[in-house]
Amino acid sequence: MTGQGAPPQEAGDLMEKVVNLCKRRGFIFPSAEIYGGFRSTYDYGPLGVNMLRNVKDAWWRSMVQRRDDVVGLDAAILSSPRIWEASGHLANFTDPLVDCRNCHERWRADKIGDSCPNCGSTDLTEPRAFNLMFKTFAGPVESDATVAYLRPETAQGMFVNFLNVLQTTRKRPPFGIAQVGKSFRNEITPQNFVFRTREFEQMELEYFVPPAEADTWFGYWLETRMAWYLDLGIPTDKLRLRHHDPDELSHYSTATADVEFLFPWGWDELEGIANRTDFDLLAHAALSGEKLEFFDQGSGERYVPYVIEPAAGATRTMMAFLLAAYDEDEVGGERRSVLRLDPRLAPYQAAVLPLSKNDTLVPLSREVLGMLQPLCTCDFDVTQSIGRRYRRQDEIGTPWCVTVDFESLEDRAVTVRDRDSTTQVRIPIGGLAAEMKARLGA
Ligand code: GAP
Repeated sequence: MTGQGAPPQEAGDLMEKVVNLCKRRGFIFPSAEIYGGFRSTYDYGPLGVNMLRNVKDAWWRSMVQRRDDVVGLDAAILSSPRIWEASGHLANFTDPLVDCRNCHERWRADKIGDSCPNCGSTDLTEPRAFNLMFKTFAGPVESDATVAYLRPETAQGMFVNFLNVLQTTRKRPPFGIAQVGKSFRNEITPQNFVFRTREFEQMELEYFVPPAEADTWFGYWLETRMAWYLDLGIPTDKLRLRHHDPDELSHYSTATADVEFLFPWGWDELEGIANRTDFDLLAHAALSGEKLEFFDQGSGERYVPYVIEPAAGATRTMMAFLLAAYDEDEVGGERRSVLRLDPRLAPYQAAVLPLSKNDTLVPLSREVLGMLQPLCTCDFDVTQSIGRRYRRQDEIGTPWCVTVDFESLEDRAVTVRDRDSTTQVRIPIGGLAAEMKARLGA
């Protein structure tokens, strides 16, 4: 595994190995590959779609399902310019852009110093502000009246629905609205695989609190979010909190801390946790004319809540889980690569493997598969030697392989092999469902 201070070669190797594995095993493909790819966009393959869903489900379970103070929302991606006028994104959501006059490459001025990373020329244009939002037109006429934007964050959906949610759920601060979904930013320099892309998924919570409690809740969410990553297997020495300096803060925030992961290129952001104050509710109230405030019928008090926002990237977080889980060791004198993913995140929790393709073993194997499928996502693999099938499942992170052999026909038991220790135990088919439930913590 690559750690802090690891030689750059090793760090580069890890990245290359994980990117290759993603392509080779069907986690993540370059988009439109048959046409040579398309501008740093990616498609999530059969394993990637399972794992990404597991990341989002784990977030939803912890942030919505297991709480009675948070409710969910799924707001439109195609959104009114008024939202982005109020939020400040039309005016402020920009990066400084420079062009190299020699090779005509385009760069973010704040990332490259005074020379072009491509050709080394110092003949660069003056920086100009480039808005990161994708602009389009809703309807057949392309005019100012039909302009729409693809949302650059899911957060604004929660603010513009604040009153709808308050009235329909009868929640009172402190309470939160959570959303998981796609966001779009016309990044000048998408990079590092799915770390920074133009189309990505976010998992965001807007937690509305009485203003006097904002600092306490900010601290609470820092701790809670750090614990989530650790619980799902990010090692403590690869995770840290970094508080923003005052000059780094976004236009809406009075305090922000990033949850950072030690990526192969160094520490970088997984999630931002911000005290957004009453900035957004006041801004939308001013532009829309609606009063976005909480009225406490008991005390007669009326106030605009402050907002604490833990904002994470689902696709970026999935990449961090893959990097943290990748390992190589030796089994029976043979080198293997293994993804030591938490079972809750692995694309498959179990693989059912008939020892041979023999007609007599397949029906019993399908019976076992039918017992497990209601509990978890399973692979079913009949081809190649059992050793190669184990290696394949290790490499895609499947925590348990369930092998049906000829003895199974006699004793109605199967062998369950553990990915990490490679130990095998014999379990009666009748007790398999209970055993799996226990292992999954279900
Ligand atoms: N609502 C606040 C907000 O959007 P952000 O720090 O810009 O804050 C939150 O984004 C998270 O979304 C980031 O920490 C990152 O994980 C993810 N994210 C942002 N831009 C991304 C991009 N271009 N590609 C992949 N993930 C991105």
